[in-house]
Amino acid sequence: MRLVVEKDAAACSRFVADAFERVIKEKPTALLGLATGGSVTDLYRMFREDYSAGRVDFSEVSTVNLDEYVGLPGDHKQSFAWFMEEHLFSKTNIPRKNVHLYDGSGDAELETAKMKAFLDENVIDILLLGIGNNGHIGFNEPDAVFTCAPHAVELAEETIAANARFFSPGEEVPKYGMTIGMRDVVRAKKVILVAFGAAKAAAIAALFGDDLVDPQLPCSTLKLAADAVVVVDEALAASANLSR
Ligand code: GLP
Repeated sequence: MRLVVEKDAAACSRFVADAFERVIKEKPTALLGLATGGSVTDLYRMFREDYSAGRVDFSEVSTVNLDEYVGLPGDHKQSFAWFMEEHLFSKTNIPRKNVHLYDGSGDAELETAKMKAFLDENVIDILLLGIGNNGHIGFNEPDAVFTCAPHAVELAEETIAANARFFSPGEEVPKYGMTIGMRDVVRAKKVILVAFGAAKAAAIAALFGDDLVDPQLPCSTLKLAADAVVVVDEALAASANLSR
């Protein structure tokens, strides 16, 4: 697992965009593992700009999303499907037929079984991860054990609280999610985790603080991945006491 420290969030996003675009250039049919959240909006803007400028061609890629809320249909503005549509899919030439999302309004067992079947057959070439304040990746929350395959989860209180900022006041924040599992993370050929902001510093400090893989710190599975990069900005690196 490698640490990359960039000046600020924009420079981190540029680093990640370049890594993805290199993979797509080398393998136009690459399977991209995609995340949602505030940490990746800049990155998706860069993808849109690079696509418009002819610097990247998504016409043969496939995509798979990490996670989704249980109970939110794809046309709900806080669903991850809607986020992807808004930020990326509707503004690039990613073929719809190659997009793999959970249907948040579908049966969670069935949706995660479908995702498992897909990931049994397909290995992610490059996987983008954000991180929760508690160290979660996708919706793999701190727990006594890791789950390998895609599955439904009860979200941690602090995840619900952190995600409430995206919902209107009074609107109910989903309590359950669906997520890829740890096998899917570890099997990816390349994994890039991005983190900015003081709220993520404790989890990142813990990640680099020892050589353990701990289900209470879900991001620690990155230590098992063949090629994992953690990209943080200088501010986070300073608060987590990390040097380049
Ligand atoms: C959610 C998602 C995660 C994401 C995390 C961080 O909980 N399930 O996949 O990494 O939020 O989001 P943000 O980048 O908005 O802090």
